[in-house]
Parts: sequence; C-alpha cells; structure tokens
Amino acid sequence: MDKEKLIQDINNNIKSCDKCRLCKTATNPVPGEGNINSKVVFIGEAPGYYEDVSGRPFVGRAGKLLEATLKEIGYKREDVWIGNVLKHRPPENREPLPDEITACKPYLDLQLKVIGPVLVVTLGRYAMTYFYPAGKISQDRGNLIKIKDYYIYPVYHPAAALRNGSVLLEFKNDFKRIPEMLKKAEELLVSGEEEKGNNNQNLDGQLGFGL
Ligand code: URA
Repeated sequence: MDKEKLIQDINNNIKSCDKCRLCKTATNPVPGEGNINSKVVFIGEAPGYYEDVSGRPFVGRAGKLLEATLKEIGYKREDVWIGNVLKHRPPENREPLPDEITACKPYLDLQLKVIGPVLVVTLGRYAMTYFYPAGKISQDRGNLIKIKDYYIYPVYHPAAALRNGSVLLEFKNDFKRIPEMLKKAEELLVSGEEEKGNNNQNLDGQLGFGL
C-alpha cells in the first residue's frame, strides 16, 4: 500500500477516535500535515485554540514562530511534516494527562512508521519525553538521541520561546543546527547499520552526538 493511503487511513482513524475524554470537548481532530516524504518531522505537544478550530497543527502564534524560524534555515512549512503527541485539544490548553498520551500513542507511532524520518525535532518537554522519558528539556535540548530507526533532536517549544527572550535565543540557535543535525543523523544511521551488520548491536536510546 502506498504511503499516502496509509497516512489517510491513520488520519481517518484519528477522526473517529473516542479512546479518551478529549474528543468530547475538542472541535476538530488535528492529525498532522505536510510532506510525508520529508526526512525531518516536527512534533509538538497538543493542538491549541486555533489548531482545534482549523484542524491544522501549529497555526496560532507558536505556529507563526515555528514557520518563521523554519524559513530562517531555508525550509518551507510544506517541505516538512508537522504533528503532535495528542490529536485533540486539551480543554483550556491544560497539560496532557498520562492516560491521554497513552491512548493517542499508537497514532503518532504509526505515522512515524509510515513516514520513516531520519530526524524527529521534538518541540518542548512533552514531545521529548514521549520518545525519551528520562529526558530533561533544559539539559537535553540541542542533542541528538537515537530512538528506534531515527534520531530525535529536542528543542524548546515555540510557545516557551514566545514567553522568554533567552529561551527564544536558544530555540533559534538550536534550529540553526537542524541541517547539520540531519546530516549527522544520516551518517550515524548509515554507520549504525554497518555496525549492526557486523555485530548486531542495539543502539536504541543511546546518546549519539551532542554539544
Ligand atoms: N502547540 C503545540 O504543541 N501544537 C500545536 O499544534 C500548536 C501549539
């Protein structure tokens, strides 16, 4: 089956999902959007007000900053795939609850399996700990971390960058390194495959490359 069809099937399942309480209060599901052949994907926490109204990820103030910062590194929004850990908005933008993350997990897992990215840029704490539960955002942002068949690259959430000037600086600096991190992740994946061929090592969860 082709990727487009598989993603469409996942999105249809998200649209009819009632596995947690959030579908009762949300206006629209927000499955994610963009280039499903992109080597880089961006994962946020959960839809906010504007995402809930439109059914599209990162279209509010945080989304505008994400888009502008992508532009600064030469990427257009439509070049990459953008999604969230949760597909329905938590009421009043409260933080995701553990059972909501668990209920929603199969969707993002499947989306990433179909897309097959090299680099997953996690935006904020919840997106990072989804992949790397032991992570601390202030400590691990700006590092490459091997997860399954890809690397994650945690950065601050754009909403946090909008609230604090020094976080904004670090957010922008981390973004500037995305092209370099993609190249590095590709190289590490190739050399990991070669290693695996030689001695079948499992590198999951191992820090690969940092500052
Ligand atoms: N914040 C997120 O984490 N995701 C969105 O889609 C919008 C804001």
